[in-house]
Amino acid sequence: MAGAACGSLRRPTCIPRPRASVSRPAIALSALHSQDPSHTGSTTPAVELIDVHKAFGDRRVLAGVSMRVERGERVALLGESGSGKSTLLNLIAGLEPVDAGTVRVGDTTVSMLDADQAALFRRTAIGFVFQAFHLLPHLDAARNVAVPLLLAGVSAHAALEQAIAMLARVGLGARARAWPRELSGGEQQRVALARALVHRPSLVLADEPTGNLDPSTAAAALALIGEMTEAGGAALVLVTHSAQAAAIAHRRLRLGPHGLGVDDGDAADARA
Ligand SMILES: Nc1ncnc2c1ncn2[C@@H]1O[C@H](COP(=O)(O)OP(=O)(O)OP(=O)(O)O)[C@@H](O)[C@H]1O
Ligand SMILES: [Mg+2]
Repeated sequence: MAGAACGSLRRPTCIPRPRASVSRPAIALSALHSQDPSHTGSTTPAVELIDVHKAFGDRRVLAGVSMRVERGERVALLGESGSGKSTLLNLIAGLEPVDAGTVRVGDTTVSMLDADQAALFRRTAIGFVFQAFHLLPHLDAARNVAVPLLLAGVSAHAALEQAIAMLARVGLGARARAWPRELSGGEQQRVALARALVHRPSLVLADEPTGNLDPSTAAAALALIGEMTEAGGAALVLVTHSAQAAAIAHRRLRLGPHGLGVDDGDAADARA
């Protein structure tokens, strides 16, 4: 599900043009990497970006971004509108090609894949949660959740069974047959979360997943994203405008005009 709708989420309006990174901030590269021993070790990281560059025409969006997310780690990505957060997620998911640099997700070098290979890779390895839910209106909740399994070749019967079980885990066991239009915003977001996790991806990418929810529903949805990714052992890259939303993350990073840095919005919380 990751692929189809992501591009349509992009906000057409934009916003401060990222300046070319003439001078780099005094942030050691190591500060962008987890220092938490529970997330480090010898295993391949969940995500690794090495000196990634991306421009759209003459608009340089990412200039030499490097980051590493460990398996099971939750990282929040903050930054002004137009700073390149969605672009970064798209590069990680292989939805956009990099201009230069390396993107790895687990053992796969996503930046080397062509579009078809990247689509196949996303089906198994990545769950995407969107701000606007993007449920398919002509499918009930269970069938929406079943889609990634069907794409992965699971039989219809087994896919539906697993989808219903996943809906139960997000508290919607009784709403499996409901149409998206019959569900509240928070319920739709829970269906979208179930869909992102049902195929047990090792990486969940969430692009402002609570932007369309009221504050208390958003808080509940975020808590659920934290719990569910933790339960599945998935790494999470969560794009958000809200420092509060970032509280479910182990680390907070900020994309700015000079690249990616540790978010110091609340230094006490930043563990980078
Ligand atoms: N396909 C594209 N073609 C041209 N420009 C693009 C494209 N995608 C993104 N951009 C530009 O790249 C910049 C970064 O966009 P991006 O969507 O990554 O920002 P963002 O940090 O996610 O912003 P927001 O918080 O508003 O969602 C913007 O200036 C945007 O206009
Ligand atoms: Mg965005």
